[in-house]
Amino acid sequence: MSFENLLTSIDNRVLTITINRPDKLNALNKKTVEEIGLAIKNAESNDAVLAIIITGSGQKSFVAGADISEFVDLSVEQGRSLAQAGQAVFKSIETCSKPVIAAVNGFALGGGCELTMACHLRIVSDNAKFGQPEVNLGLIAGYGGTQRLIQYIGKTKAIELHMTGDIINAEQALVLGLVNYVVPQDQLMEKCLEVIEKIKTKSPKAITGVINSVNAYFENSVDGFNIEINEFGKCFATDDFKEGTSAFLEKRKATFTGK
Ligand code: COA
Repeated sequence: MSFENLLTSIDNRVLTITINRPDKLNALNKKTVEEIGLAIKNAESNDAVLAIIITGSGQKSFVAGADISEFVDLSVEQGRSLAQAGQAVFKSIETCSKPVIAAVNGFALGGGCELTMACHLRIVSDNAKFGQPEVNLGLIAGYGGTQRLIQYIGKTKAIELHMTGDIINAEQALVLGLVNYVVPQDQLMEKCLEVIEKIKTKSPKAITGVINSVNAYFENSVDGFNIEINEFGKCFATDDFKEGTSAFLEKRKATFTGK
């Protein structure tokens, strides 16, 4: 099956999904998110696939966030729908019965960081950068980031990163427990395949059991994801959001008024 914004290949029972919008640093527009959802759905039912790698095209960026150019003029309802659709696709990655590894080859910001966190493992190149910089746009994370970052690194650093929009490098991400391995960029795929080969020697059913059981640990809380959908949607009614997105697209610094 061919996609507009993804490259896919299956080799040795490993499906590699490459997000392929390098001129936009692989930013996730709606079409790309939909296609990722479809690729994961196909992989679930394809017996030829035992494991999945998600990566970005080029040497600079995994995914530099949701596509900001699509945010302009969204209403509160449309903002909520955007978050809902993104969360559904990312949830399908998290609950995929086959192991999904993010091979993070550069920027993993905003929706890109959220995408890595929906994957079961994060193996990253030494130039990888992580962050949730949505606040710079007068926004918050909407694809599960407010819920998943806490799961990986705890509230102390998670709330700081969401509030400051700070970007952290690969080594900092490793120290915080956000990623599994940091390797030189030219060894990224090799390391992913090494880990996958180890997992492939185990029972696929047992691996699914691990995924379901580990995920279950986080399922019994209040529905923070729903709260995030509402909070994300509300941002679209603010002047600050309009200013933040316009400033980005006009390549200038945003001036927020709190309105
Ligand atoms: N949405 C839409 N377009 C994006 C994008 C995004 N999230 N991130 C990068 N791009 C586009 C840029 O607009 C630019 O397009 P252009 O060449 O048509 O002008 C292209 O990708 C290259 O990005 P550029 O900003 O020139 O690269 P850089 O190396 O100077 O900076 C970043 C890299 C990642 C620091 C910068 O692109 C950035 O801050 N991106 C937004 C990150 C973000 O806020 N993500 C969360 C979104 S909710």
